[in-house]
Amino acid sequence: MKKFFGLLIAIALLVSFGCSQQEKKLEIFSWWTAGGEADGLNAMLDIFKANNPDVEVINATVAGGAGSNAKAVLASRMQGNQPPDSFQVHAGHELIDTWVVADKMEPITFIFKDNNYMNSYPKGVIDIISYKGEIYSVPVNIHRSNVLWFNKDIFTKNGLTPPGSIADFFAIADQLKAVGITPLALGDNGIWAATHLLESVLLGTLGPEGYKGLWTGATAWDGAKTKEALGNFVKMLDYVNDDHAALSWDAAAQYVIDGTCAMTIMGDWAEGYFKSKGLTPLKEFGWAPSPGTAGTFIMLSDSFGLPKGAPHRDQAIKWLALCASKEGQDAFNPKKGSIPSRIDGDKSLYDAYLQSAMADFSNNDIVPSCAHGAAAAEGWVTKINDVMTVFVTEKDVDKAAAGFVAAAAGYTNM
Ligand code: GAL
Repeated sequence: MKKFFGLLIAIALLVSFGCSQQEKKLEIFSWWTAGGEADGLNAMLDIFKANNPDVEVINATVAGGAGSNAKAVLASRMQGNQPPDSFQVHAGHELIDTWVVADKMEPITFIFKDNNYMNSYPKGVIDIISYKGEIYSVPVNIHRSNVLWFNKDIFTKNGLTPPGSIADFFAIADQLKAVGITPLALGDNGIWAATHLLESVLLGTLGPEGYKGLWTGATAWDGAKTKEALGNFVKMLDYVNDDHAALSWDAAAQYVIDGTCAMTIMGDWAEGYFKSKGLTPLKEFGWAPSPGTAGTFIMLSDSFGLPKGAPHRDQAIKWLALCASKEGQDAFNPKKGSIPSRIDGDKSLYDAYLQSAMADFSNNDIVPSCAHGAAAAEGWVTKINDVMTVFVTEKDVDKAAAGFVAAAAGYTNM
């Protein structure tokens, strides 16, 4: 009998040891593999590891900008009830429509309340991560989509200043072409990068109200002004590198570093990439709002949430509290090329570009990014990307406009 109880106790101990072992892991899922984005993530993971030396941290990444591959892997894991402990998800429609409405996420308002963070974020940011009064993710940053980056040396040697309007862009592009420099770098082997360029051109042509109307139904996707924007996009393709369809976004950014191309229009994670290659803002590269978009900030935000059934929930909560903290955000964002989503980031840690982004974020008209999950549901963005795949090769404005009208059906006015 004694032996039997001894055995029972031993089994119980083993089981509880197994469980506590299980508690000592944290799997974070993202698509941050390129220079800058990987550095930012590591900076935050390093803090987590220092605070929790007994926890095994699994940095689960699936390469491919904008989550072009990661999202499919995540979807199949979630479907198979094998969620990571926490995953990267864009704040706004992507978070809410894809995961929260489908009842796959735990509300995490308590993390904000327990840490006294409810007033540490702008109301607009809290709004896009909330659903029916509960918060569902921690926004770790604010990114700007509509930025034109340029090679300073090329601009100086050719006496150029960054283009203020779309017409200026074409004038500068012609000058560059005439001296044998490819004006614009594009890397759309993930089609999202073409959609990314398009959203800047839509804003630059339609203006902020017209752009916002695309997502509410107030602006027609096949209206004359939208078609003018699509025409501008097609014309821009005359000025991009021939191998654009084979390149990733960071390879395109590298073309600007190398002087193969003079400019690129990419989110400010490109700034993180430039810095990861040893470049300094204002020295080797400069920036401006993408042509015609000064005064408007196309925003998106990377966030992390708590999936239901997270295998190491306690660790995930510690991770999310770190993502929500000033310390975490000030370690992550200066490397990532983004600004904190909190209102109290330490400005002195941010370089000249990021300080200008902070100022613009507080003064500009803020509009949501389509390519990065803020403006539209994931299903809609997928359809837009499908239209883009054809549009980039066929360059048929009327066909694309009709495709965008069909893509919007059932989604606008959300
Ligand atoms: C965006 C994401 C950024 C950056 C970029 C390129 O969707 O929000 O953080 O990672 O993709 O991968």
